[in-house]
Amino acid sequence: MEEFNDNIQGRVPTHVSIIMDGNGRWAQLRGKERVYGHSHGVESVRACVEAAAETGVRYLSLFAFSSENWGRPEAEVNTLMKLMFKAIADEIEALKKQRVRFRVLGDMSRLEPALVEAIRTAEAFTEPEDGKEPILDLIIFLSYSGKWDILQAAKRLAEAHASDPAGTENATADEFASYLVTSGIPDPDLIIRTSGESRISNYLLWQAAYSEFLFVDTLWPDFRKEEFRSALKEYAKRDRRYGKVK
Ligand code: FPP
Repeated sequence: MEEFNDNIQGRVPTHVSIIMDGNGRWAQLRGKERVYGHSHGVESVRACVEAAAETGVRYLSLFAFSSENWGRPEAEVNTLMKLMFKAIADEIEALKKQRVRFRVLGDMSRLEPALVEAIRTAEAFTEPEDGKEPILDLIIFLSYSGKWDILQAAKRLAEAHASDPAGTENATADEFASYLVTSGIPDPDLIIRTSGESRISNYLLWQAAYSEFLFVDTLWPDFRKEEFRSALKEYAKRDRRYGKVK
């Protein structure tokens, strides 16, 4: 591990975010139903959590289900929600043991109450009891879209200043960001999208302002530790200037 960290000269991203894409195609290539790809995708989630913890990434976020994904056939939506239930039940003990804090962000009002309850229980369970920082925050974006997040933040900001128009007038970008569901989480340094697609698909629109992007051809069920580490090596080569000159 030390050797790996040496190779990337201490340039490990604090927050890596992944648009997990290509489960359906992976299954199709094997003559199987799409759900077969999704369940193998859970294995990739586990591998990336381990790789992130091992390499010193502090936040790993994953786009698991977008607001637009509600428009998929009902059977697939139901299967994905069941998979989420099962993944929580199967993985939560191991996450706690690894000192990984589990969090889910998105429009919870569209989820089944039982799933919301399982999520809240899992979040509380992985909250470190000793008050120490977790090794890794694993953030799952579920029923999430960037436009939804920006809109709900705008509404909450307006509400907070309802009786104080000057407050809205003087609002800063930092204040606005405190109303996004990602408040308190650093913006992603690196956003990876798998499966050869090169688009943001209504993901972290505000938070991605200065993220580095990496588009890889690997389909999500094949994106494991080695691919995660290669992505970090690629990130280490990037020159981030944030609109300034060096
Ligand atoms: C994209 O592949 C993947 C999804 C919409 C679902 C991602 C879900 C998982 C990996 C499983 C559950 C996740 C967690 C965090 C436990 P696609 O279906 O769009 O693939 P395609 O583009 O080939 O059709």
